[in-house]
Amino acid sequence: MPTALTRAVSPLLADCELTHLERSPIDIHKAAMQQQRYENALRKMGYTIRRLPETPHLPDGVFVEDTAVVFPELGIITRPGAVSRREETETIADVLKEYRELRFIESPGTVDGGDVLVLGKKVYIGQSTRTNGEGTRQFREHLAPFGYSVQEVPVTGCLHLKTAIAVLQDDLLLINPQWIDEKLFPGCLFIYVHPDEPYGANVMRRNTFALCPEAFPHIAKKLEDLGFNLILIDQSELAKAEAGLTCCSVLVEEGL
Ligand code: GLY
Repeated sequence: MPTALTRAVSPLLADCELTHLERSPIDIHKAAMQQQRYENALRKMGYTIRRLPETPHLPDGVFVEDTAVVFPELGIITRPGAVSRREETETIADVLKEYRELRFIESPGTVDGGDVLVLGKKVYIGQSTRTNGEGTRQFREHLAPFGYSVQEVPVTGCLHLKTAIAVLQDDLLLINPQWIDEKLFPGCLFIYVHPDEPYGANVMRRNTFALCPEAFPHIAKKLEDLGFNLILIDQSELAKAEAGLTCCSVLVEEGL
């Protein structure tokens, strides 16, 4: 059964890490409601929701994507680039070991899961303020026995690689070319974000469904035109914490 691992919003969310955004007040109750609606949308897309143990003392704990990346053959527990986020990995490792054999990124390597984009057997890893060369080297080493190749992608102007790119179909990518170089994805086709919606590339899709924040009507229209069954949600409070849709879950599809 495809499962989405999620976590409750911490009451300390307003103290989250911020890199490219100014701090602004966050309504925690509204953020928690938005996380619940996000989970409902994932259910509609076919996932069973499994909530990880709560970590109320960790402001960014809801952004579970950064703590683990799941492949059919294994799970990799990351070592987040922000020191304040390192403890978040403990609770996901305990749960994910029920689904996959685990490997771990060790010091001095750092990787945020938001920097990892998987396209078949090709894995793109953003080189950002959170993910370093040593973390990428370890990631490559863990994946090599399973036939994956790893391509490094410099990320500038946004937090993570997946802030700037999403896979819509096999080789069709939604991209903000201001933040990453499309030439690093040879053979792919591109749909570009609208200039008014620079954060619009972080959408999710599964089978016929596409999940998109209400804040990006131009992207939503493109997804509809492509024939996706569109689900729109309000993610405005979580977005103030520099998060996108993918940040709020770790997806565990069927294993081998
Ligand atoms: N607030 C999300 C992050 O910076 O990791």
